This record gives sequence, C-alpha cells and structure tokens, in this order.
Amino acid sequence: MPNVIILGAQWGDEGKGKVVDLFAEDFDIIVRYQGGHNAGHTVYIGDKKFVLKIIPSGILRPGKLAVIGNGLVIDPAALLSEIATLREAGVDVTGHLLVSNRAHVLLPVHRVMEKIAEAGPARIGTTSRGIGPCYEDKTARRGIRIADLLDSASFRAKYDALMEEKLAIGRALGVEEDLDWTRIRQEYEAFADQIRPMVCDAAMLLHRAINEGKSVLFEGAQATMLDIDHGTYPFVTSSNASAGGACTGSGVPPTRINGVVGVAKAYVTRVGGGPFPTEILNGVCEQIRERGNEFGAVTGRPRRCGWFDIPLLRYSAAINGIDSLVITKLDVLDDFDDVPVCVSYRVAKREIQEIPPTAAGLEQVEPVLECVPGWRAPTFGVSSYDELPAKAKDYLAFLENRTGLEIGCISTGPERNQTIVKPGSRLEKLVRRNGAQ
Ligand code: IMP
Repeated sequence: MPNVIILGAQWGDEGKGKVVDLFAEDFDIIVRYQGGHNAGHTVYIGDKKFVLKIIPSGILRPGKLAVIGNGLVIDPAALLSEIATLREAGVDVTGHLLVSNRAHVLLPVHRVMEKIAEAGPARIGTTSRGIGPCYEDKTARRGIRIADLLDSASFRAKYDALMEEKLAIGRALGVEEDLDWTRIRQEYEAFADQIRPMVCDAAMLLHRAINEGKSVLFEGAQATMLDIDHGTYPFVTSSNASAGGACTGSGVPPTRINGVVGVAKAYVTRVGGGPFPTEILNGVCEQIRERGNEFGAVTGRPRRCGWFDIPLLRYSAAINGIDSLVITKLDVLDDFDDVPVCVSYRVAKREIQEIPPTAAGLEQVEPVLECVPGWRAPTFGVSSYDELPAKAKDYLAFLENRTGLEIGCISTGPERNQTIVKPGSRLEKLVRRNGAQ
C-alpha cells in the first residue's frame, strides 16, 4: 500500500477534511505535517459535524493512528480542548493520537505579537491564532519545542528568556499587554503533564511503521497557494503546505512517498487578503457563498469566491507533483447556464500561463475566461459517475483536458457516501487497499 499526500491545490478550504476522512479507511496512519489550529477541517458523519483544527481528520476512523508531526505549531490549550470536544462526541483519542517531540509550542504571547503586526500596514488578514509569530520564533532558533515543554527546567529557562525578549519588544513599540507571564508558565507546565503520554519521536515511529509495511496518509492543511515559499507571498501562511512540507514536517523522506492527491473545488475561494485573479465581484459571489456555505470553519469569515483557475491549478500540479485531482462541491454550480473558467491570464495585452512571482504582479493580471455550458441539473449526493449529467461530465473533462490532470474523484456533498471514485483511476490505485498496484 503506497504512502500518499493529500493536499489543497488552491487557497484552502477545498474539502480536504472529508477527503482525508474518506480515504483514511484504507491507511494505517494519518499524519498532519504543518500549520496549527488555523486549519478547519470539517467532516460530517451521519448527523454529527466535526471541525478538526489541529488533530488529523483520520482520528475519526476507529483503529487508526493519528500523528501530529514536527512541522506543526501546537497551542496546547487548543489541542486539549479539541481532544475534550472529540471525547464528548464519543471519539476517544487515547492510544490513537501521538504528538512529535519536535513540534513547536505556541504561546499566548504569539497571539499578542500577531495582533500588533495585524494592526499595522502590512496586514495579511490572518486567522489571529498566533501561528506566524510562533513560526518566526522557530526560524529565529529561539522557539520552544514539545520536548522542551516536557522538561520543566529547560521549559522555564527558555520560556523566561523568550518572554523577556517579547516584553522588551513590546516596550520598545510602546505596547503594554496585560499578560500574566508567571501564571501562563504554570498553565503550560500543567499542559505538559496532560500531553506527555502522547509525545513521541514521530519521525522514528513513522520510519519503523513504513519499514513494517504500514501505509501513511499525509494530511495537508491550508493549501499550495498559501505555502510560505510557493504561495502568493506575503499573503500566505507561515509553513510549507505544499508536498515538500510533508517530508520536512514529518521526517519521512521523499523516497518513501508514492503519490500526491490534490484537492480542488469546482470553483475557487480564498479568505484573508491577497491577489485573486478570478474573484467574482458581483452578486454571483454571494450566490456561490450561500449555496456552498463559504464561511471560514475557524473564523466564520465570509470567503471570497471566484471561477476555476487553470493556470493556478497547473502551477499547483507542478509544485506538488499531483498525480490525481479530487474535485469538490460540483453541486454548488448546478444552477448556472454557463460556467466561466479561467484558461490563461492577460497582462499588458499579452496572454500568459505562469503565475507572476509577486502579489503585485498577480494583482495586475486579468483572467481570460472561457464559458463552459452549465448542466442545470442536480448533482448533489450523486455517487456514481454514470449518473452525473452529461454536461457536468463535460465540465470535468474540460478541467482535465486543460490542467492535464486526471480527476480521480468527485465529491458531491459533505457525507462520506456523497463521493464518486472513478473506477480504474490512478487515484483509486493510490488510496484503495484493493486498488494497490
Ligand atoms: P495564518 O495562517 O493565520 O497566519 O493566516 C495567513 C493566511 O492564511 C490568511 O490569509 C488566512 O486567511 C489563511 N489561512 C490560514 N488557514 C487557513 C485555512 O485553513 N483555510 C483557508 N485559509 C487559511
């Protein structure tokens, strides 16, 4: 059984939570490799709705192991509260959830630093969870890791040094924040005791598991265009959400990864600031937002909506080495006479296919839209490819043709069974135990 990465191919919120939950059935271990509780992976099982922010969606499959990799930044309070919510919903994580000893610890002061940054002119429109400042400390080599949190002397020394520095910055900026430094340290010492049983050397655990023939599913958070290196910098998150991040954020080498599945909506959304070439700036945006319930799972912010963007998808395919695509929320487009698709960009009377490297450059491109006939028939809940309306199949074929990618799976609703996996597809071979080569 191969080891496979599932990631967002656009700006996030593509429906990765459902897709990971669905395919997790055939894997042994599900690993998150970057981000923190800025993600919001929504999974519906029957009449129950789960929003997972930091715990891999695979936790909802009994008997699977869910691992939080070294590439994450962990707010222990958020992690423990998510565990408690799961427990109330009947999901006991004991023995099924492990945390890397090399992941970084997110502190309340990180949220304060973010508040200061977001009040300034370089505002990104973040989720306000303190994710960026925590990664800043990691990169500046003054971060606190889970292994430090578990060692009280080391934690105390590192925490005090970090807080001295943050308070000095606050004073220099003329910002007085009411943070009870000592009380927070004591809280974190208590968190350490609760987290300790879950902590392990996750990279070595994965190494041993793969050697024993176990299969690993890597669950991306955020998405390619929010990747710190390859996304629409600076309007990005602070980690590598693209395929390379799966290796650095878990300790599993590239030679052990067998495939990459990209998840894309049948249209595009983004939350927060930044360029968005196919953004719809009229009432149609509202129509898609209402029908697709396009509101942030973590922050509740209304998402910006736009048409499917072929140059963006081709870029994403190149960066990630996508083997197969999952298209989600096809049903949201059921009522349109025509569905515009962006096939290239126009800039200064020239047509281009590439993504400009700067946000300002991407801001200047105009989408060249081609209208594909709509199907004006319900696709919600359809679970067999043959039952899709012919014109909906034509739309999918158009996307396949222009992106050069196989569409191996179509999601037609939030439930597990509202899904079509194309028989014989490359995707089926990657994610289905009985489909393995
Ligand atoms: P941060 O990750 O909170 O630092 O936010 C940076 C950017 O990434 C902002 O534009 C956020 O809206 C966006 N972002 C972060 N997490 C998600 C997500 O799960 N879905 C969509 N956008 C996200």
